Amino acid sequence: MKILAIETSCDDTGIAILEVKRGKTPVFTVLSNIIASQIKVHQKYGGVYPMMAKREHQKNLLPALTKSLKESELLKSQITNSNLQANPKSQIINTILEREPELLKKIIPFLKKYKKPDVDLIAVTNGPGLEPCLWVGINFAKALSSFWDIPVVPVNHIESHILASCLENQKSEFPAVALVVSGGHTQLILVKKIGNYKILGETRDDAAGECFDKSAKILGLGYPGGPVIAKLAKLADTRSPLISGERVSAQLPRPMINTKDYDFSFSGLKTAVLYHHKKQVWLNSHDRRKLTTLKIKQYRQEMAVEIQQAVIDVLLKKTIKAAKDYKAKTIILGGGVSANQELRKQFKEAIENKMAAFLSIDKNATTIYFLVPPANLSTDNAVMTAITGYFHRNKKIARPEFVKLRANANLRISK
Ligand code: KG4
Ligand code: ZN
Repeated sequence: MKILAIETSCDDTGIAILEVKRGKTPVFTVLSNIIASQIKVHQKYGGVYPMMAKREHQKNLLPALTKSLKESELLKSQITNSNLQANPKSQIINTILEREPELLKKIIPFLKKYKKPDVDLIAVTNGPGLEPCLWVGINFAKALSSFWDIPVVPVNHIESHILASCLENQKSEFPAVALVVSGGHTQLILVKKIGNYKILGETRDDAAGECFDKSAKILGLGYPGGPVIAKLAKLADTRSPLISGERVSAQLPRPMINTKDYDFSFSGLKTAVLYHHKKQVWLNSHDRRKLTTLKIKQYRQEMAVEIQQAVIDVLLKKTIKAAKDYKAKTIILGGGVSANQELRKQFKEAIENKMAAFLSIDKNATTIYFLVPPANLSTDNAVMTAITGYFHRNKKIARPEFVKLRANANLRISK
């Protein structure tokens, strides 16, 4: 079967088409994976503004869909039906896209021009995320579904971050503990099996990705902060000459690292970065002539290493604790922050080398599986939406039931 997926929960517009060979172990083939990034738009403001992101999604969705269908060889022109406006289906589309006028303007000529593609199911993210953004994707899915008579399955964005690593069919066993770390969420989730989840803990304030983004802003780096901090940390040469003759030696806190629960807190870490930065008199000195760009670069690099390590330390310790307590046979990483190479490396090492025997239920067993999606599927994309849609294909709905399909900014994976 072929699944067309739509993901607009935050600032990336994702469209993907996935072919699935059904079976006990389904085989997934990505026919196309289009991501229209809005980074350039939001960079100017150092963060995502939901209404601006909504407008961008409206602009991006049809070009992304066209490209995706083309790459999948599913874009077929048809003899124009000039009477489409009179078609009752186009009236329905007018109603569905009432609040997305830019998208509405473009969709009618598109539907006139191209035939219904050979797709069996549409999967769309319905939460959690930015509500105006979620609605654009949902209404787009509803419009295509109505016109082409293809059912829609709603997808939880957090679940799709967990299931992103199913693409490659890496070996795994349940129960699993999943750590989802993104710009909006940091959750530790017990996965009893696909579709059966329990949130063990989550952040009480900022998400890990948010901490990277806000710290980067404080340090005068770009947006999004995670990739910039990761890049700087990688470049950092700890043997290089010291700033003003002495190393910055930032000792940032590891908030809640030793608490007995599975919760996190990252806002204190960001505040510590702020205070450390403010304390650097030399950095804020009016006599900037004394400062070389090299010194500023070194300061930023050392801070990047420390911020990244503080986040990794907390995430790793809490995940290992949850895996141990719940006798997990697999640890799954997902979400934008899991694109971080150092985080992946340290998790892999901890799981494979040192802690495997310690973690397993059976003392003789040494294997605990570790799943992490390819880096391009860690950050938001629609391939993971399609995979999740596949596993929940029985929950598909069609037009008369569309009232049920709503955006839910605070959708939870479990009670
Ligand atoms: O999952 P995602 O694409 O969107 C949300 O659902 O939020 O995650 C975006 C977050 C941002 O905060 C970004 O800074 C972070 O993931 N991120 C990273 C890296 N790449 C993206 N954080 C650390 N290291 C990275 N390489
Ligand atoms: Zn995400």
